[in-house]
Amino acid sequence: MITVEDLERVYLMGKVEVHALRGVSLSVKQGEFLGVTGESGSGKSTLLHLVGILDQPTAGRVLIDTTDVYRLSAEEQSRFRLGRIGFVFQEYALIQELTALENVYLPSLAAGNSHRDHEEHAGAILEKVGLEGRLNHLPRELSGGEQQRVAIARALVNDPGILLADEPCANLDSENSRNIMDIFADINRETGQTIMMVSHEAWHRPYFDRIIRLRDGRIVDAGDVFDDEER
Ligand SMILES: Nc1ncnc2c1ncn2[C@@H]1O[C@H](COP(=O)(O)OP(=O)(O)O)[C@@H](O)[C@H]1O
Ligand SMILES: [Mg+2]
Repeated sequence: MITVEDLERVYLMGKVEVHALRGVSLSVKQGEFLGVTGESGSGKSTLLHLVGILDQPTAGRVLIDTTDVYRLSAEEQSRFRLGRIGFVFQEYALIQELTALENVYLPSLAAGNSHRDHEEHAGAILEKVGLEGRLNHLPRELSGGEQQRVAIARALVNDPGILLADEPCANLDSENSRNIMDIFADINRETGQTIMMVSHEAWHRPYFDRIIRLRDGRIVDAGDVFDDEER
């Protein structure tokens, strides 16, 4: 369960205040696949970064289950993020010098978790996203769609309960986008991960349980929960 309460984020650009979020409140249920939409500049990425403990709010709170994440120390925040949250960026953000396999198992080493064989575990996840033949490829030896699948595998390596994805298909053609959306849908269905995804695409709508819309730093549509007949 993610609970966002009266979240505000003001960026200071010299002396000019940019109000990226102006009081956002939101609950995301365990296992929900939530779409986040809205025009460019409406605050979608800011919201996702704040939920992902990658930023600092100006006011308000983010609770993950019962943990008020911005009251944790920096070290506790890193540990919490590594174990509980996976983040997928539009630009993949892979380390160029590392192979697909190494990119995926790095966060599991960093978390110091109990997977005895990090490589084997990472390989199994890469297989799950259809990259069994690409373990030792460098990012530049992979297509955009393949790189994004590596990034998804990396986000999943520590079995986080929450997956956050900021326009993960924005750089992909429609076939690769569909593939990525299907992978998210499978993950959500099979392991019950909570997913929050920023998307503009109308054809993504049927994938989501609910879609919220932001405008100018506020939620202007909190979304109806779709039931299966409506899809
Ligand atoms: N690091 C930053 N410094 C200053 N302004 C920012 C920064 N990041 C975002 N903004 C501003 O905050 C607003 C919301 O941005 P963002 O959350 O990226 O919107 P979206 O993802 O919906 O396009 C925009 O006006 C943007 O210019
Ligand atoms: Mg954005």
